[in-house]
Amino acid sequence: MTWWRDAAIYQVYLRSFADGDGDGTGDIAGLESRLGYLRELGVDALWINPWYVSPMADGGYDVADYRAIDPAFGTLADAERLIEAAHRFGLRIIVDIVPNHASDQHPWFQQALRDGPGSPARERFHFRDETNNWQSRFGGPAWSRVEDGQWYLHLFDAAQPDLNWEHPDVRAEFPSVLRFWLDRGVDGFRIDVAARLVKQAGLPDKRGRIEGVPTFTDADDAPDKDRPEVHEIYRDWRLVLGEYGPDRVFVGEIWVRDPERFALYLRPDELHTAFNFEFLKCAWEAGAFREVIDRTLATHAKVGAPPTWVLSNHDVTRHVTRYGRKRSAFLKREHGVPTDLALGTRRARAAALLTMALPGGVYVYQGDELGLPEVFDLPDELREDPVFRRTGGLDLGRDGCRVPLPWGGDAPPFEFGKGGAWLPQPPEWRELTAARQLGDPDSMLSLYRLALRIRRGEPALGDGGMRWLDSEPGVIDFERDPGFRCVVNLTGHEIDVPPGEPLIASAALEGMRLPPDAAVWLRTSD
Ligand code: NOJ
Repeated sequence: MTWWRDAAIYQVYLRSFADGDGDGTGDIAGLESRLGYLRELGVDALWINPWYVSPMADGGYDVADYRAIDPAFGTLADAERLIEAAHRFGLRIIVDIVPNHASDQHPWFQQALRDGPGSPARERFHFRDETNNWQSRFGGPAWSRVEDGQWYLHLFDAAQPDLNWEHPDVRAEFPSVLRFWLDRGVDGFRIDVAARLVKQAGLPDKRGRIEGVPTFTDADDAPDKDRPEVHEIYRDWRLVLGEYGPDRVFVGEIWVRDPERFALYLRPDELHTAFNFEFLKCAWEAGAFREVIDRTLATHAKVGAPPTWVLSNHDVTRHVTRYGRKRSAFLKREHGVPTDLALGTRRARAAALLTMALPGGVYVYQGDELGLPEVFDLPDELREDPVFRRTGGLDLGRDGCRVPLPWGGDAPPFEFGKGGAWLPQPPEWRELTAARQLGDPDSMLSLYRLALRIRRGEPALGDGGMRWLDSEPGVIDFERDPGFRCVVNLTGHEIDVPPGEPLIASAALEGMRLPPDAAVWLRTSD
């Protein structure tokens, strides 16, 4: 059994995790100082968002040097020390790799600007004299003009020019970057925008696009998505990883809906795992969850890859908030959407138990374990996400799920660091600090710690199979061998807890009744 088939992986959004030097931005020293917390939480590995040299036009997803650490986060020596320290704590390290685009400050792009139209340096990107109708995924056109009149393609911000994956330099660069970090002991890579590296030759117009409207809902066969040639890249990379033994892994960020196409990325000679966004997007409905779970298991079974279960990340509205809303407003990032946070929190507790009981691996986004909600009322001038700017504020952007963690104390910055915090934390987070929750057996943090501990010790959990049990509509009920059962109540009324010894429940079981929006794990006799 390989560790990644059922790992619990904690996502560290470094700039908002913990600040070691008091400048208001999280950093490697801050992370190192909290490794004990992560070990006690009970996760197996950390995925660290990009920590490379970057102008931070997109929170570090605009990389200017793939082989160096941004000074705001520390130094390469700090990174090496962190990797070693994490390993001593029994935590593996997955770093983010961003191959679809570089920063406009990357030396290749700077050279392309200097060398001018027709130069070999321009061929490493997509420079054209005329544009097509593609829109940036952050809103606005996907093309920006340089001084000499040529345009370059950027699927994201203008500061993130897309690399041309037909170019031999680009193809050769990334295996070398992988080796650079593998040599420093990292255990794997999360691949950013993994399905979009290769573009259809000639960059044809997209069909049915509406100018000016940002959209994350491209069809799978869009000319900048899921081109068959992209698989060659990952076969190539898999060989590189293989040279370092069987324990290093890839996890792909793959927003491809068609299960058949999604599964192709997980063939045994490509990526080990990929994020399961269909589950994340699923509203709070038993039938919808069951469908997604079935589809996920079937898709992964075909290629023998373990599924992953993800509730939140640094790109989506936090799930405490999502689950406190009507289905129609589920993922929206705008002011004034009615949200019941108490309900969202109850459901988030149940969802945590559901994800940790399902076959495969599970991701925890920093702050999930504290039950943090999305923050909408940030001052506009402090918002950094280009999505806010590029949509003219129609979409508030992703800053609200990136607010620095509250560690302790009664007032901001809640021991995030000795200085302030780069985004203001709501004063009410005094109730949600890690320190306060540690002392409360009913807190979200205590639930996560206990559930992760049980998950680690329970032979039925992690990799393997599961069986649905007959249940009334609105109940998710399944068993796993040996002797484990998970029941989640989405009916809106209390139900009987089935026979078995409760191992953990997301809400108090009064008289062996399971309240609505709650989950329980049971040990059953075989
Ligand atoms: C996906 C990342 O998760 C997101 O934060 C980023 O903005 C885009 N890719 C572009 O790199």
